[in-house]
Amino acid sequence: MKIKVEGLIAPLGLDVEKPRISYSIASPRAGAKIQKSYRIAVKKGDDVMWDSKEVYSGQSANIEYMGPALEPYTAYRVEVAATDDKNNRYTGETYFETGRLATEFKGDFIGAPFRTAVDLNGDPSQDYVQPIVLRKKFHAKASERARLYVSSIGIHFCTLNGKTVGDSFLAPGWTPHTKHLQYNTHDVTGLLCEGENVLEITVANGWYNRRVPWAELKQQEKFSNDLAAIACLRMEQAGETLELVTDESWQCGLSNISMGSIFDGEHCDGRKIPEFDQPAKVLRYDKSVLEGACHEAVKVMERKPVKEIFTTPAGETVLDFGENIVGVPLIRVNGRAGERVSLKFAEVMDRQGNYYDANYRSAKSEYIYTLKDGYQEYYPKTTYYGFRYIKVCEFPGEVKAENIETLVLFSAMERTGHFQCSNENLNQLHRNICRSAKGNYVDLPTDCPQRDERLGWTADAQEFLSTACFLYQVDPFFTKWLKDLALEQGEKGAVPVIVPNINLNAAVEDSDFGTSARDQMDDLSVDSVNWANFWSDAATICPYTIYTYFDDKRILQNQFRSMDRWCDFLYAMYTSPSGVNTEVQYGDWVALDARDGAYIGATPLDLLADGCTVYSIELTLKAAKALGDQEAVGKYQKRYDSALKRFRDQYCTEEGIVRESTQTSKIVAVKYNLVENKELQVQKLAEQIEQDGCRLIVGFIGIPYILEVLSDYGYTDLAYRLLLRTEYPSWLYQVKRGATSIWEHLDGIKEDGSFWSPDMNSFNHYAYGSVGDWMYSRIGGIRLDPEYPGFKHFVIRPLPGGGLTNAQASYESIYGQISCQWKCEGGRFVLEAAVPFNTSATVVLPSGEVKEVDCGSYRFEEPYMV
Ligand code: BGC
Repeated sequence: MKIKVEGLIAPLGLDVEKPRISYSIASPRAGAKIQKSYRIAVKKGDDVMWDSKEVYSGQSANIEYMGPALEPYTAYRVEVAATDDKNNRYTGETYFETGRLATEFKGDFIGAPFRTAVDLNGDPSQDYVQPIVLRKKFHAKASERARLYVSSIGIHFCTLNGKTVGDSFLAPGWTPHTKHLQYNTHDVTGLLCEGENVLEITVANGWYNRRVPWAELKQQEKFSNDLAAIACLRMEQAGETLELVTDESWQCGLSNISMGSIFDGEHCDGRKIPEFDQPAKVLRYDKSVLEGACHEAVKVMERKPVKEIFTTPAGETVLDFGENIVGVPLIRVNGRAGERVSLKFAEVMDRQGNYYDANYRSAKSEYIYTLKDGYQEYYPKTTYYGFRYIKVCEFPGEVKAENIETLVLFSAMERTGHFQCSNENLNQLHRNICRSAKGNYVDLPTDCPQRDERLGWTADAQEFLSTACFLYQVDPFFTKWLKDLALEQGEKGAVPVIVPNINLNAAVEDSDFGTSARDQMDDLSVDSVNWANFWSDAATICPYTIYTYFDDKRILQNQFRSMDRWCDFLYAMYTSPSGVNTEVQYGDWVALDARDGAYIGATPLDLLADGCTVYSIELTLKAAKALGDQEAVGKYQKRYDSALKRFRDQYCTEEGIVRESTQTSKIVAVKYNLVENKELQVQKLAEQIEQDGCRLIVGFIGIPYILEVLSDYGYTDLAYRLLLRTEYPSWLYQVKRGATSIWEHLDGIKEDGSFWSPDMNSFNHYAYGSVGDWMYSRIGGIRLDPEYPGFKHFVIRPLPGGGLTNAQASYESIYGQISCQWKCEGGRFVLEAAVPFNTSATVVLPSGEVKEVDCGSYRFEEPYMV
């Protein structure tokens, strides 16, 4: 039995009032199909806090703890027993620990006795970039259990008696720090000594104090506060608890890292040790926003060795790691004090085979380490890099492969999806999608991991989400990000295009911003944050998607207010005479029908904005229904009916399709249920694609849905032709050019080897990887049944085609593993499927024959010609 609490394995420091327990039974006894009952007990020591008693139900995911209020800083054991329809019994147990819950976080925020904030309006070269180290020496007795609860304004890492605490990176992650700040909980029982101990917390700028050079500085001021840490070390022995907290008795010194910056990298001097010659200062930050981190931390998830070392035509030494990865280099080096290792990072080599990093824009992305004497190992701890190549600018002696290894970093989520088929190009595309998911799930969903951006762009996050739901158990990861999305909404409910928000140029709530901005707020479409449809619609799309994949009703409950506020904002505009503002829209971003030199595609902005608005209202209606909120259902049913009618009156022909001519307008018309005559709409789309030379001419909005819309309305063959095309424009063009991750542009490297403009040319951008959903659900055939969230019932319906002779997909659902593999052989189609315990599936064979199945392994065959 695999048991999780809040989607996590044995979490520590949970600040969730009623944790939810989920379990799955991987190997049911012979003949068992479904769960008959469950019983869950939560115990504190020998005391039973909650006994659910025998519950006759098929529910095995997200079962809420219903006992009395949990106590802070307490360990609980969870015992689960389930019975099946054949009266077999299954048992398992796990544990979790609470964090501060409703009690105050002990200790104060402390920092340096001098200013460590970035002066965003000042000279950039004057930015404060050196991490500080906060230290406390203390006496301790032996402890049975010791926990360190720690957080920071900036990112931090800790050592206890010289040993690294925990294995996470970039803690406490990125949130809108002053509204929501996570703290991490570490088990330090084994690190604590009897007698003298030394605890050190290094705090670096991380995401907090840094400038985003291309965004308006005035708006970033709120991000410029002094670095700080807060910690409480709780030591328990024989019923007695001792606490050591951050206060003014701590000392402060400067780190041997002289520069630590997310964009620019790290400089570290191995010869130096901090001098703790200053007292720490207590800083007044709000402690009530502290919350125990409840999603997987960023960790070393893979280790990548150097694949090749080469010299470029320009004579530079470059290390190739074989794949476009994200992480930090671990160097192993022997040398003399003062010698240096200096590295630069790049994703691609240029047409001549020379080192190229112009597409990192202002991000310096460098790493300089100054040696002490002898053998040493070091890796940067205050930054991360997105790269395939490392240029070795300085190294003591000749660099060898064994000197450098990459620690690949991403949020340590459970991998759930696997895919393979007979077409090697598609397998590579799938690997590239996974690589870009890893590279952009570093604590929050980002657009890219290398240039001076790496931000929580909302469109990128939402359009990739249904693919991500196949690949990883992203529920806790998105729960955290969506909480921040809600916290960052504007006064009127607008959702920022970037979460955590970096205002670009919106009117702001700060009174000192000036009256003109305040005046603009009277405009219905102006709020204190920048918004745009499709981007901000992440507010409705993400929670609803997560709910359907993981049967997580709580995410809908938690986000419903946010969805509602966003829809209120949209609806007020939508029904006003001026309509939804088109000036703020990014439209079908980087579409292939954009004018030369522009990024916004040709699909009219009003149609897209209004279409997205109707869709957001529809999803909010569905969420209201799922929550059984009748009042909201009434409100949204009315809104949906009128918004849809309005859309049809404005954009549709009498035949019930949209009047517009672009591919994306037709795709959206169908996917967002905007038109009456979907069959005709898809027929027009298919005709247009053929006329366009069987090329996709779409951008951010059209690409995630184009294949689904075609294949769901009978154009599977055309969908395969688009997918398998290898000339530009296509997904496989980049695969043929050797891509190892998904590019921002289908032709980031053009046919002649030249690049797209460096100001917008990421080679690790998962947005176009949203095709992964189609690969799992249509090639692999594993499809969600939205009526039964969490794959309680699902559909197995692969669509053979495109000359593929076999494919296999598997998905670790919350109930266990679903798999589907098929092959076409000797005029027969053979399908093998596995349906996990406690679920059922409808299998649809290519002939259209339907089989209803429950838990078990199945094989079906029928005549089939490739
Ligand atoms: C990002 C995108 C994002 C877009 C919006 C870009 O700079 O990298 O992926 O969605 O801006 O304009």
